Amino acid sequence: MEISNTIKYIGVNDHDIDLFEGQYKVENGMAYNSYLILDEKNAVLDTVDEHFIEEWLGNLKMVLDTRQPDYLIIQHMEPDHSAGIIAFMEAYPNATIISSAPAFNMMKQFFGTDFSQRRIIIKDNDTLSLGEHSLTFLSAPMVHWPEVMVTYDNYDKVLFSADAFGKFGALDVEEEWACEARRYYIGIVGKYGMQVQALLKKASSVDIQVICPLHGPVLTDNLDYYLNLYQIWSSYEVETEGVFIAYTSIYGHTKKAAQLLAEKLSALGCPKVAIADLAREDMAECVEDAFRYGKLVLATTTYNAGIFPFMREFIQQLTERNYQNRTVAFIENGSWALTAAKTMKAMLENSKNLTFAENEVHIKSALNEESMAQLDALAVELCKK
Ligand code: FEO
Repeated sequence: MEISNTIKYIGVNDHDIDLFEGQYKVENGMAYNSYLILDEKNAVLDTVDEHFIEEWLGNLKMVLDTRQPDYLIIQHMEPDHSAGIIAFMEAYPNATIISSAPAFNMMKQFFGTDFSQRRIIIKDNDTLSLGEHSLTFLSAPMVHWPEVMVTYDNYDKVLFSADAFGKFGALDVEEEWACEARRYYIGIVGKYGMQVQALLKKASSVDIQVICPLHGPVLTDNLDYYLNLYQIWSSYEVETEGVFIAYTSIYGHTKKAAQLLAEKLSALGCPKVAIADLAREDMAECVEDAFRYGKLVLATTTYNAGIFPFMREFIQQLTERNYQNRTVAFIENGSWALTAAKTMKAMLENSKNLTFAENEVHIKSALNEESMAQLDALAVELCKK
């Protein structure tokens, strides 16, 4: 794949992976992207996951032909991008490794060496000339690890964006960008909105024609679309007006209430209603939807003097990602003790700028006239602007 006449793709697709980062389902696999810039000096940007080092070195060799790489630029030390460093440095003993000081510390931790005789340590805004290509390194701490930097090439106007603008899914599978990019962003980088905002600000000062991330497709057209979504996600703004109903149900009574609420909301003309059983659907997809929509309904039962485990896990995943700026409503069910709403609210008490709906639904075992009326009132409240 050609990014330009002199920038080539040398990454790999992974269809063997079961869980990315040990937790995210990736049915369409993963891509570990790596790039080669050919110039008077040749530079490789990042390596790949440990299972694909040979394939990656093969890609590199094929594109290099008789040339040699002068630099290996490491933007991010997470092993999905750094596992090939040792193999590269052994294969190309004249190459110099370029990275940030914290990245070299991590190299020592991962590999027992920080290449002290063969390295260039760079700081924010340092530049490197390859000939026609001039690279500027921009530090991007916590997007997604502390050592991260991104690289701007002002010859081809390319931003090598590290994990930013990445997505789940291998490159040989066609799928919509936003859905898997959102699940990837919220899941992996969602906690670090402020740091992503800082990177977007830095990036806004340069002319970007192409974004080359470490995962997912190279972005070339309509870049404002992607930049705008990153702006929304990183500032925790509402992307889609609508209601997401997240429920758990043991014998079906809470599920019935959740489904009835969804029907009532649709009947009232609510712009978009999404619903998910937290025990059965992909947790990362549910977390993504909570951040996507403006209103969230949490429906669960009292369980072991707390709340049902999948709901507890869900709320914890929201709060640790700085869930904020939303309206939240509660449906609780308890045959012995109606305490689930109180427990859920307490879990959200440190979250910024949440509005709790005035109407709550209290179910004692099964819906009755009283709790049905509460459902009606909640539906009306959630449909108001
Ligand atoms: Fe794709 Fe944070 O590594």
